[in-house]
Amino acid sequence: MEIIHVSAECYPVAKAGGLGDVVGALPKYQNQLGHIAKVVMPMYRTKFLYEHDFDIVHKGSFGMGTYWFNYTIIKERTNKLGFDLYLVDINGLLDRESVYGYGDDTERFTAFQIAVVDWISQWQHRPDVVHVHDHHAGLVPFMMQHCFGYRHLSAIPTVLTIHNAQYQGQMGWDKSKYLPHWDTWEWGKLDWRNNINPLACAVKCVKKVTTVSQSYLEEMRYSANGLESLFEYEKGKCTGILNGIDSAVWNPSTDAFIEPNYTLADAAKGKQANKKMLCDLFNLDIEKPLFIFIGRLVHEKAADLLPQVIYDSVYHMEGRMNFLVLGSGEAAVEWELENMKSQLAGYYNSKIGYNEKLSHQLYAGADFLLMPSRVEPCGLNQMYAMRYGTVPIVRNTGGLRDTIIDFGDPGGYGIRFNDATVGDITYSIHRALEMYTQPKLLKKIMTTIMELDFSWETSAGQYINLYERLK
Ligand code: ADP
Ligand code: GLC
Repeated sequence: MEIIHVSAECYPVAKAGGLGDVVGALPKYQNQLGHIAKVVMPMYRTKFLYEHDFDIVHKGSFGMGTYWFNYTIIKERTNKLGFDLYLVDINGLLDRESVYGYGDDTERFTAFQIAVVDWISQWQHRPDVVHVHDHHAGLVPFMMQHCFGYRHLSAIPTVLTIHNAQYQGQMGWDKSKYLPHWDTWEWGKLDWRNNINPLACAVKCVKKVTTVSQSYLEEMRYSANGLESLFEYEKGKCTGILNGIDSAVWNPSTDAFIEPNYTLADAAKGKQANKKMLCDLFNLDIEKPLFIFIGRLVHEKAADLLPQVIYDSVYHMEGRMNFLVLGSGEAAVEWELENMKSQLAGYYNSKIGYNEKLSHQLYAGADFLLMPSRVEPCGLNQMYAMRYGTVPIVRNTGGLRDTIIDFGDPGGYGIRFNDATVGDITYSIHRALEMYTQPKLLKKIMTTIMELDFSWETSAGQYINLYERLK
């Protein structure tokens, strides 16, 4: 089968979070299963662009409201990612340094989607599936079905994967002028509560919707940032498929970002050496258990609770642990995490910003990973942490519920708590300290988590089965 993934992110080309990791891995594993999976995404000005060679495969143009855009599709020459990578260049609109965060993101991603549909419409053949990811690609199925110029694509099956229903890409109806000449009888497909809602529109138009864990699929029917009733109504076309992790990229025995590499056999020694590097760099105490947080500093991740959790733990548990935070996001949280460094020197440190290499070093050198997320559709950090022998402490939600069993339960290996509150999180840290003082138990847990298999093979196959049922 030929599958086209349409996405705003794809690692290592451009990544802001887990979406990038998934779109950088899933197509590779689908190709390994004997299919032809390709990725098309915007051409941002990232390092990857300058370090690789590309061929121009198509040039076209389209109108968007009162604008006229020329676009170019370029293809990476070597296929080194394990799949064909196509980038959409729209001069002045997409070629920026960051993926998101610009005032004209609505225009940027709408134009990206029009270019993708226009390009596919000019192919000599039809792909078997167009697989769109999140709201940045959510208007593609609508355009393929209801824009007059592209209706010849309407028979191609489309699939939507929702990585996070919190973000929906809403825009006012005034923006409807951006869409290529469309059938206005179909306005209801675009609309959700008097706005154009690309995520809701995709749910209505695609043949199948997947979300990145089974538990999140169930949660969306009562908590989906206003789309609950839509998910209840469309539940028949929705399936949960748990993400995998790219075990070639996230592998402590080969990871080029960490020093030294280690396997299960020498994990204790290897992790200790990685921890030493971190402790030296961040002025922390190697004798104490190291708790880390890596992620977007946003409400969903409960990052706002971190400062109080860290203060309370250090003060009420006699400073028996160290904390290290890597993240970026809401300004107030960044400020607080930065500001508390001087008061908690020797117990806590942080690096505000995005740093891929440091994230690998943290997974390798830490003892425990904190993930108190209020919302977590799947979560990859907890799976990466376990691969590196770091014990996850997670809230009982979404994909965290589906991947972590509390060590107090039969067959358990992690720490799970119910509420995103300072009390529940600090209590879990207390439980982690108890675990840390029992070397035999810790060793057993480390062995279990490093041996767990979260690789993509199973999930990649589940997507293929789903596509096959669309024929
Ligand atoms: P989400 O996609 O909601 O942010 P995930 O757990 O699915 O959450 O994936 C987060 C990904 O982004 C992981 O690969 C994680 O290591 C990475 N990441 C998040 N924040 C940072 C950061 N500040 N620096 C480096 N990597 C980060
Ligand atoms: C989203 C979710 C995260 C998930 C990732 C990849 O960003 O917030 O939970 O792991 O997408 O699917």
